[in-house]
Amino acid sequence: MIIDGKQAAADLRKILTIEVAQLKKDKGVVPGLTVVLVGEDPASEVYVRNKVKQTREVGMISNEIKLPNDTSEAQLLAVLQQLNNDDAVHGILVQLPLPKHIDESVIIAAITPNKDVDGFHAMNSGRLLNGEPGALVPCTPQGCIMLTKKHLGEDLSGLHAVVIGRSNIVGKPVALLLLQENCTVTIAHSRTKNLAEVCQQADILIAAVGRAHFVQASWIKPGATIIDVGINRIEDENGKAKLVGDVDFANVAAVCGAITPVPGGVGPMTIACLLKNTVAAARLNG
Ligand code: GUN
Repeated sequence: MIIDGKQAAADLRKILTIEVAQLKKDKGVVPGLTVVLVGEDPASEVYVRNKVKQTREVGMISNEIKLPNDTSEAQLLAVLQQLNNDDAVHGILVQLPLPKHIDESVIIAAITPNKDVDGFHAMNSGRLLNGEPGALVPCTPQGCIMLTKKHLGEDLSGLHAVVIGRSNIVGKPVALLLLQENCTVTIAHSRTKNLAEVCQQADILIAAVGRAHFVQASWIKPGATIIDVGINRIEDENGKAKLVGDVDFANVAAVCGAITPVPGGVGPMTIACLLKNTVAAARLNG
């Protein structure tokens, strides 16, 4: 079975459209998201355009602030301070990566935690770690859990989940979410010994390594649920650019129980969860 992330994202947006209308009716609040883009990275420009477009489609306000590549850290901090103090802005997202001369950790720390719709601020990662209800949780990990449940249903208790990757954006938070779901969780990474054998234990396998076709069919327990977070640009046989995940899709699909495609799997869910976080932030700040 292929887990359709595009459909799942459309379903979530439908629910959010109703929630946004309800917030407006009950409280007179229209959730607002501001996306800040520094520099001219073409991939980032595409992501930001999609985020802005979809935010508006569910009835929310979306603004984009484009800053030149030579923007200083101090200038960006000043922009963030203004947004932190603006009551019409419920969510703030600074598109990553930032130019090299700007320290990302300084920028993430400067966003008011209750407006941090990426869930990257230490206050939000701490809330997630402690299992506190007010946490804004990173978008891609939330999407991974929702797609897993599309196939396995709500109860993931006791299942062995293996996460390959330990980034602050995906690996660590998705492992914490799986733990909250009562999974037995293993975090594997580039130094893990016997990676194939570790993966063979997985009822749920989350691949977030950033290497094309890295996960092999021989690593998969028959019937396992595979969530592919990778977005890798490679050239096909004819030299044309194409997107592939971290999983050797064609061969793994023949062994596993369910798998997310790339594109059309986790990617659309990430943006839908950003919209969900913006609604949650409007409730926190509204
Ligand atoms: N760049 C790539 N993915 C992301 C994301 O989820 N959030 C931000 N802020 N930047 C990104």
